[in-house]
Amino acid sequence: MEKLTGLKKIKTAVFISGTGSNLRNLIKFSKIKKSPVSINLIISNTPLAKGLRFADQFKIKKKIFNFMNFKDPEKNILSLIKKEKIRFICLAGFMKILSKDFIKKFDGKIINIHPSLLPKYKGLNTHSRAINNKDKFTGCTAHYVTARLDSGKIILQKKIKIAAKDSADTLAKKVLKQEHKLYPAAIIKIFN
Ligand code: GAR
Repeated sequence: MEKLTGLKKIKTAVFISGTGSNLRNLIKFSKIKKSPVSINLIISNTPLAKGLRFADQFKIKKKIFNFMNFKDPEKNILSLIKKEKIRFICLAGFMKILSKDFIKKFDGKIINIHPSLLPKYKGLNTHSRAINNKDKFTGCTAHYVTARLDSGKIILQKKIKIAAKDSADTLAKKVLKQEHKLYPAAIIKIFN
């Protein structure tokens, strides 16, 4: 990954599909001096993503690409990204799988946060799967995005103990809290 030179922060897009708590957290992080990135663009695949409100709140450009309506959403996303001079992408609860071609064009510059200790529990419902399997620990993982789902090189991981009384919901809350620490730490790690 390129090193930071001078004072300019790296223009970054965050892709979301839902609540956007990681997005909000990354925006807040981006405003502190030690952040190597600035958040300049928010992309969602659905107008229903609650996190889109943070675009208005923090005056960041947002764009919705409804994958159902767009013939070639990725082509449109790529041209917007180019226009906005975006050099780094953070997926934050983005529930669409990006194509090989898209990832190739942005190779090594897309990262993701996932609510499990990868390579365990790729995909959805990670917390109920961990509980059903009676795992003692779960966690979250920041990793590079490749064409294979939740399989890219791991940047950082945080292990979290599963309590006997944990449900998928309580665990999701615990893990999300740690995601909010891990994601900025991963960004610092790759640019420093
Ligand atoms: C987060 O827990 C994130 O790790 C997960 O979706 C949630 C989004 O929450 N992502 C994935 O499962 C991707 N495979 P947020 O919208 O509040 O950031």
